[in-house]
Amino acid sequence: MKVTVFSQISIDGKLTLGDGGSSKGLFQRFNDEDMRFIHKFRGEVDAIMVGRNTIITDDPQLTNRYEGGRNPIRIIPTTSLDFPASAKILNSPGQTIIATTELARDNSRVEQIRAQGKEVLFAGATSVDFKLLFPILEARGINHIMVEGGGQLNWQIFNLDLVDEIILMQLPIIIGGSKTTTLTDGEGYQDIAMTKSFKLHTFEERSNYNLLHFTRELELQGAH
Ligand SMILES: NC(=O)c1ccc[n+]([C@@H]2O[C@H](COP(=O)([O-])OP(=O)(O)OC[C@H]3O[C@@H](n4cnc5c(N)ncnc54)[C@H](OP(=O)(O)O)[C@@H]3O)[C@@H](O)[C@H]2O)c1
Repeated sequence: MKVTVFSQISIDGKLTLGDGGSSKGLFQRFNDEDMRFIHKFRGEVDAIMVGRNTIITDDPQLTNRYEGGRNPIRIIPTTSLDFPASAKILNSPGQTIIATTELARDNSRVEQIRAQGKEVLFAGATSVDFKLLFPILEARGINHIMVEGGGQLNWQIFNLDLVDEIILMQLPIIIGGSKTTTLTDGEGYQDIAMTKSFKLHTFEERSNYNLLHFTRELELQGAH
């Protein structure tokens, strides 16, 4: 499975404005051409994944609306299944897979989501085990997934060494805020040998932002 982390970030690595805020504020800085770039990429991957908090704060459609191409399959990991039945990923056409855990087996939301025509898939005991989930997805022909955050989900994907490339649309702004979501949150590393290394593949200065493309640099990896 090829995994691309794809994000709109600030210079200081923030994904949003304020604690628990929607990232839609950031999008005011992007024009139609920039949006087309995002949607074109969505049309090139097989699936797109965001965490449950992103569904709550942003209520995204996660579709490819600016380009005529196909839509990626939407995949949302969540143990709680605690997001509104009105969420766009449940109510817009296209495939959505809610990936959850054994803890949710008796959750009444499972049948509600299925009744909305979307799939619930169990992969993990107490949290979704991506090393279990990804081969299941691959067996269905999903070979390239883009992970669009937020910071908690990204942390897990990086921590499990699953990321092949990172594409950042970096706005030339500083947001600040110690509680504001960054590209990766989670526990973080205290040991340099544990950090994940990436190589700058291309850099492009665009009118509203800088486009940074990193690829995984496994040989620089210390402990792994
Ligand atoms: N600028 C951008 O490109 C961008 C993109 C996306 C999001 N954002 C911003 O990021 C913020 C949200 O980020 P966040 O870090 O708070 O949350 P998040 O990563 O979007 O979601 C975290 C939640 O996802 C679920 N989850 C993640 N990994 C899981 C696993 N292995 N197993 C089971 N559930 C899992 C959990 O839900 P349960 O509690 O149900 O288990 C967890 O609480 C928002 O402010 C949003 O606007 C920005």
